[in-house]
Amino acid sequence: MKKLFVKTYGCQMNAYDSAKMADLLAPLGYEAADAPEGADMVILNTCHIREKAAEKVYSELGRLKTLKAKKARDGGRMVLAVAGCVAQAEGAEIVARAPVVDLVVGPQSYHRLPEMIARAAREQGHVLETDFPALEKFDSLAEPSATGISAFLTVQEGCDKFCTFCVVPYTRGAEQSRPPQAILREAEKLAEKGAREIVLLGQNVNAYDDPSSDDTRWSLAKLCEAIAKIEGIARIRYTTSHPRDMAGDLIAAHRDNPKLMPYLHLPVQSGSDAVLDAMNRQHSADDYRRLVDRIRTAQPDIALTSDFIVGFPGESDADFDATLKLVRDIGYATAFSFKYSKRPGTPASTMRKQIPEDVKAARLAALQKELLDQQHKFDDSQIGRTLPVLFEKTARDGGQIMGRTPYLQPVHVKADAGLIGQVRDVAITRRTANSLHGALA
Ligand code: 5AD
Ligand code: SF4
Repeated sequence: MKKLFVKTYGCQMNAYDSAKMADLLAPLGYEAADAPEGADMVILNTCHIREKAAEKVYSELGRLKTLKAKKARDGGRMVLAVAGCVAQAEGAEIVARAPVVDLVVGPQSYHRLPEMIARAAREQGHVLETDFPALEKFDSLAEPSATGISAFLTVQEGCDKFCTFCVVPYTRGAEQSRPPQAILREAEKLAEKGAREIVLLGQNVNAYDDPSSDDTRWSLAKLCEAIAKIEGIARIRYTTSHPRDMAGDLIAAHRDNPKLMPYLHLPVQSGSDAVLDAMNRQHSADDYRRLVDRIRTAQPDIALTSDFIVGFPGESDADFDATLKLVRDIGYATAFSFKYSKRPGTPASTMRKQIPEDVKAARLAALQKELLDQQHKFDDSQIGRTLPVLFEKTARDGGQIMGRTPYLQPVHVKADAGLIGQVRDVAITRRTANSLHGALA
């Protein structure tokens, strides 16, 4: 067997893609390794969203160069591939700056990996594959082989929203939905392999729009309804959603579909109308408040989470205060927050009135303090309650297993590993820094 090491950066979409790439390479005799030393193939599955992402990739490539040279001295060959969004955005530049790289493969071309590896082996040169070919990508990907209790399933890729700070529309291309039949087949396969929870993924997942042209088109809500009927599936989640695409039937599904978890990641980015406008988010802060009201009317017991960017170009103190106010008005279970960072090629990167680093840092600290307070308050509100927990794996602490509440909070319980894969009622007794603890009820 040849050894394959995949290093994943960034989002769940990338984690999913990494697993897919490993599946694709298994028939070529590659098996997963947990370190790059001595590997026959190393894939860096990169992410462009986080700050200094590209730089991190280059410094990792520097380290891998040494391992690759050692492998060659030992008479072997390490194929080095860069995949993901950095590959898509800077393909040619990567090869120029890091000749140690053999393959550059964009997110739309993973199904061609086996062919590319064969070609690279023949030519020993650099192979670039970062175009946006059409739809078939989804269907030529291999069937999932490994899966956990909670399994990701991509239903949609790409984004047409063009938020002015974001690279996704450029790196992942236009919105594309998979045909519902293929999604349901994959969900059934995952269930057969032991998945009890399906997490539907897409950069803009609630914009899911059945690509078939007749008038029986499927929405995300309808997809969730069909997946709920698959034997073995106990829970359904989806991420990430845009406020503009929160359709009425999806809101209703949070009330009517008991397998759809009461949890929604609905990024708002800012609470200031001026900033939202400059970000091209296409809604106001009050639009978002009204939307959350509608969602909570349908399902009062829903945990909301969000992403925030502080220090967007032109953001004033008053704009930032409006974000803090929105956070206090809404009340989040948890949230991610980032300092704005320039992405080459995006409109915001050339806007005047970029915000100084120290101002960004101060705003981020203030926002994260508020968000962490809310998270602790939300977690503490579960103490004393009995919640259904889906157990996923053994915990590091001996004799404990880890599961999740409907609100995605991790819970540690002293219980038999035989319960993994089952939903059990747990009486929540206390909270530590990042997880809840409880006992079987
Ligand atoms: N700067 C800072 N944060 C960003 N995000 C996306 N692009 C940028 C950027 N240029 C954040 C957004 C998005 C999350 C996945 O990453 O909040 O929702
Ligand atoms: Fe990026 Fe999300 Fe905006 Fe699309 S909706 S451009 S993925 S931030």
